[in-house]
Amino acid sequence: MPDYIKFVDSVKRKTGIDLAAYKEAQMKRRLTSLYEKKGYKNFVDFFQALDKDRNLLNEFLDRMTINVSEFYRNAKRWDVLEQKIFPKLLAENKRLKIWSAACSTGEEPYTTAMVLSHHQPLSQISILATDLDENAIQRAKVGIYPERSLAEVPAHVKSKYFEKQAAFYKVDDAIKRTVTFKKHNLLKDTYEKNFDLIICRNVMIYFTEEAKDQIYKNFSNSLKPGGILFVGSTEQIFNPGNYGLETEDTFFYRKK
Ligand SMILES: C[S@@+](CC[C@H](N)C(=O)[O-])C[C@H]1O[C@@H](n2cnc3c(N)ncnc32)[C@H](O)[C@@H]1O
Repeated sequence: MPDYIKFVDSVKRKTGIDLAAYKEAQMKRRLTSLYEKKGYKNFVDFFQALDKDRNLLNEFLDRMTINVSEFYRNAKRWDVLEQKIFPKLLAENKRLKIWSAACSTGEEPYTTAMVLSHHQPLSQISILATDLDENAIQRAKVGIYPERSLAEVPAHVKSKYFEKQAAFYKVDDAIKRTVTFKKHNLLKDTYEKNFDLIICRNVMIYFTEEAKDQIYKNFSNSLKPGGILFVGSTEQIFNPGNYGLETEDTFFYRKK
């Protein structure tokens, strides 16, 4: 069995994570550069080492997950969410069921709460935020970020919902209380149902076509009729009709 295939198999047995659902060339490149840096010769040696060493396992998870995120990522899309999507959803339902899937270190669900707070009090907002990576979730719960994560945050939002602490910015507790973080693997765990809005951005690019297809089906099943799927700005769905979705705006899809 080739080296990488064996590694994929061992990692799945150890962690439940299925590397075969991620684009192979990209994933191999990322992991090869990590094991070479650590002084291992091949994937077999690398797995033997990370099987025994919790820190190395964490470094591997860190390298495979890519947690890059920022507040108001692609700011114009968040304007569309605020000015067009939320008013329509709120006309149907006063309490929205919202899921930020693959939320990384929390910038995305916190941005969602900040944007929605222009329409309703924070006490009425509740957002489920999930990620595969427990370390990212821990950082999200702490809610302290470097200045570069806030580059796109509008000035009035920055002064209202962030507190400067030395070189960092802390998210306001009232915003933090609107978000519930949980571990969830998009490739394996069951999906909750009846969402008005699912936000899943900048993770589909890493998956194979088969994995993407399954995840879009699952998202569609998890949306209420009229619910919205908000995707990343390089992640246009070319055949939304295949999933019972139609285009509502660029990078927003409505469940029929
Ligand atoms: C680049 S970040 C995107 C963060 C945020 N959504 C954004 O757009 O800024 C990708 C995230 O996807 C998560 N991820 C990767 N595979 C996943 C899976 N199978 N299930 C859930 N999350 C996953 C990673 O842990 C990482 O935090």
